[in-house]
Formats: sequence, C-alpha cells, structure tokens
Amino acid sequence: MNDLIERAASDLLNSEYAVALTGAGISTESGIPDFRGPKGIWTTDKEAEAKAYERYDLFLRDPKSYWEEVLGLKGMHGAFYNEVKKADPNPGHYALAELEGFGLLKCIITQNIDGLHCKAGNTNVVEYHGSVHKLRCPSCGFRCEFEAVSLEKLPPYCRCGGAMKYDVVHFKEPIPVDVMEKAEKEARTCDLMLICGTSAVVYPFAGLPRSARLGYKTKAKIIEINAEPTPLTYEGISDYFIQGKTGEILPQIVETVQNRLNKGGGG
Ligand code: APR
Repeated sequence: MNDLIERAASDLLNSEYAVALTGAGISTESGIPDFRGPKGIWTTDKEAEAKAYERYDLFLRDPKSYWEEVLGLKGMHGAFYNEVKKADPNPGHYALAELEGFGLLKCIITQNIDGLHCKAGNTNVVEYHGSVHKLRCPSCGFRCEFEAVSLEKLPPYCRCGGAMKYDVVHFKEPIPVDVMEKAEKEARTCDLMLICGTSAVVYPFAGLPRSARLGYKTKAKIIEINAEPTPLTYEGISDYFIQGKTGEILPQIVETVQNRLNKGGGG
C-alpha cells in the first residue's frame, strides 16, 4: 500500500492539471449511505430504487406530488434529502481541499448531491448530479438556493413560469448542459485524474475517465481509490487502483505530498 501512496503523491506533484472525480463512496464516512456498496440504498431497499427511477416522470406528470414525495410529506424516501443536508465533511473531503490549497488539484467533478466538497473548502466543484441545497427550473435552467424559495404552496414556480424542482438530477433526467460541458472540458484538459469512491457504472458520468484518456493535449494518468474494484479497474482504464477507504487513503497521500513539499522536493 505504501508504495502506491508514494506513487500517487509523486504523480500529483508532477501533474500540471489534476482533477478529482468523486462518488457516494467518499461520503459514507460522513454517515451518508452509498447506493451500490454492500450496505448501499439500492442494494438494501429495492422499493427506494424503484421510486427513484419514477421520480423525474412524477415531476413532469404531477410536480405537486413530486414535491410532497421529496419533502417526505408522502412516503418515506424524501427523508433521505433532509438527512444529506445535515451531514459534515470527513477527512477524505478535507484532504481534497488541502490538495487544492497546495495548488495541485484544479477541479472536482462530483456525482454527490450533498455539497460536502464545498463545505470542506474546495472552490472549483462541478456538481454533475446537482445539489440538495439548490432548486432548478428545468424550463429555463435558473438555479437558486433552497432557502430562497417559499414551499408553502407546492410546486414552487420559477419567474419564467416553469415549475421548479430540486436541483438534484434524477434517473432518466438529462444532465444540465452547462454542467455536462464543463465536466467534459475538465476531463479532456487534465493530465491526472484521481477517482474516489464511485462504482463507475452510471453514465454519462462514468464516461469521463474515458474522455480523459482522449485528452486535448495528453492522455491523462488515472488513479482509482475505492473499497472494491470497478469496471475502470477491470478494463484497465485506471493506471493503478488503491483499495481502501477514501477517508484513510487520501489523508495519507496529502501527508506524503506535504512532507515532500516541506523538503522542498517535487515528485
Ligand atoms: N471509501 C472508498 N470507497 C467506498 C467507501 C469509502 N469510504 N464507501 C463505499 N465505497 C465504494 C463502494 O464500494 C462502491 O463501489 O464506493 C462506491 C460507491 O458506488 P455507488 O454506491 O454506486 O455510488 P456512485 O458511484 O456515486 O453512484 C452513482 O448513481 O444512484 C445514482 O445518482 C446516484 O450519483 C449516484 C450515481
């Protein structure tokens, strides 16, 4: 394990434009369950998964019922969003914020809707699947903070007249174009991609590592950190795989980088 930590520290110090891709795995140590891990929500609650696949259609068909569901007023799955809002970052999130502080990490593209990377201090975060802290109007693309809109009357309406929804991207819902384009550009610009805590099976997000391989200037080096191997590991998309918890491995990488920087050394 140590040699992989040393190797990752060297690769980061030698990188010109490193980005991180993150998934639910980086937030499990903050008490938010993942989806497809052994204790994941979809793994343990098939009804929740079925409801999640119907959520966007429900919004299009009946936005009032959609809001009653996601606010936990109807059924029990809306409570998930309320729980996510209460969570705090863990050492994995803070480690990525430190890497940004060293000037080594340029951007994070996350599938997580919990806002914990921003809470930990990262400033350039692409929320690929949206955020529970925001609302969005699918008609005009307008976004605002959750608290900025009254939910006394449901559904809330946008100034364009469209019904607003959680900014969260549900299954079968298109990824907002602005987010998709920014993520693709970052993936093709990077020369190092650090992938943390994702099963890498949900598209189009899972296509980003492959885009990084076809980078504008260079074929990015891909480092994968996860509790279990993924299709990226098996297909050889990642250059190397570090197995374990992101909240334990990322701080070790940061410590190794910090020691090198203190010695005035590079990668
Ligand atoms: N450290 C490292 N890996 C972890 C940890 C941890 N502390 N905890 C869990 N994992 C791993 C799991 O073993 C699993 O392989 O993280 C991965 C999480 O995968 P998923 O649960 O599939 O989450 P993610 O890849 O983010 O899901 C993608 O699917 O359900 C939709 O919209 C939802 O954004 C989500 C998308």
